[in-house]
Amino acid sequence: RALQKYLSLDDFEPVARRRIPKFLYGYISGGAETDAALRDNRKAFDEYGFVPRVLNDVSGRDHTTTLFGKTYAAPFGIPPMGSSALCAYRGDIVLTQAARCENVPMILSASSLITLEDVRAANQAAWYQAYLAGLPERIEPLVDRVAAAGYDTFVVTADVPVPPNRENNIRNGFQVPLAITPRVFWDTVTHPHWLFGTWARTVMNHGMPHFENMDAQRGPPVLAKNLMRNIGARDQLAWKHVELIRKKWKGKLVIKGLVSPPDAKVARESGVDGVMLSNHGGRQLDYTISGLRTLPEIAAEAKGMTIMVDGGIRRGTDVIKALALGAHFVWVGRPFLYAAIAGGQAGVQRAIALLKAEIDRDLALLGIRSISEITPDLVREF
Ligand code: FNR
Repeated sequence: RALQKYLSLDDFEPVARRRIPKFLYGYISGGAETDAALRDNRKAFDEYGFVPRVLNDVSGRDHTTTLFGKTYAAPFGIPPMGSSALCAYRGDIVLTQAARCENVPMILSASSLITLEDVRAANQAAWYQAYLAGLPERIEPLVDRVAAAGYDTFVVTADVPVPPNRENNIRNGFQVPLAITPRVFWDTVTHPHWLFGTWARTVMNHGMPHFENMDAQRGPPVLAKNLMRNIGARDQLAWKHVELIRKKWKGKLVIKGLVSPPDAKVARESGVDGVMLSNHGGRQLDYTISGLRTLPEIAAEAKGMTIMVDGGIRRGTDVIKALALGAHFVWVGRPFLYAAIAGGQAGVQRAIALLKAEIDRDLALLGIRSISEITPDLVREF
């Protein structure tokens, strides 16, 4: 089949790149300012090598992983990616259905373009990621809406007090809702696969795409006003709001987007269940270090809190390095969105299967049989 040509997660990017307008490729692939944070996400992994063990019986391997009481087929999932449905037709549904079929979790983004209720109906893992204004009167109804929809894990992204400086978006004329400038018009008509297969199909079947999930209310009429209020008051968000959510939210609570050990400690003291060490894929503060760099320190202090990491993970070896350094679980972003663009749900399933197969092979080559046997002595800094 056509999908057989994809041999690793990196193989989806060039195909996706050809299919989508330049402004969307820039939006997905880019980081902030100089891309130093983006580069560090790869560099941090490249600084570690393996010290494999040999002649252990490694038959009967098992890469299932338990996270917040649920057993998944592998120790990775799909993190929140906003505007996925602008990149691939019904992108969030595609990602969540692929994740469900492969039994890995997927987190719905606050800046998705499909309602959280619709995505929940197609989904198993039920993680919702929020972008919050520091205003209790706006936080509380959103928490209620997410709970009513049946989500069980609430993720607060903490590294977005102000919008980032991504110059490529400005240069390419990208904004949501999409404004059809002459540059954007040319960019879209020269990518007919996207224009007809994603944009026109979306508008015809579902209307103009809008952010649906940043507020308690749904739908476009309230949107522009609410969106601006949300973004405007994001710089007021503070730990006291996390404590407020903790009181109200019955499910698991996760903070995404910190890399500092003192912040991880405050998170634990605020009663959160997990932290996701992340520099937002290098997309927020430039030169923020990779979460991998503080992972060992934070994991040593975790005391029962679940530690996850994302950013630059592309191979089974990367997944295993993160787990060896103390992570309980990891998240892989861009490659799965590229896979959705290149091959729809089957493409994402292919990508997930490739990463699972790499992990399985790597476990054997490391001389171990399961995720729980991954220990720090299997890795060394080069
Ligand atoms: C993101 N990311 C992100 N994070 C978040 O908390 N809310 C969001 O809406 C988004 N949106 C988003 C869109 C796109 C196109 C990308 C690429 C990323 C960050 C994402 O959850 C994750 O932290 C990084 O993507 C992980 O890095 P890699 O695996 O893409 O290198």
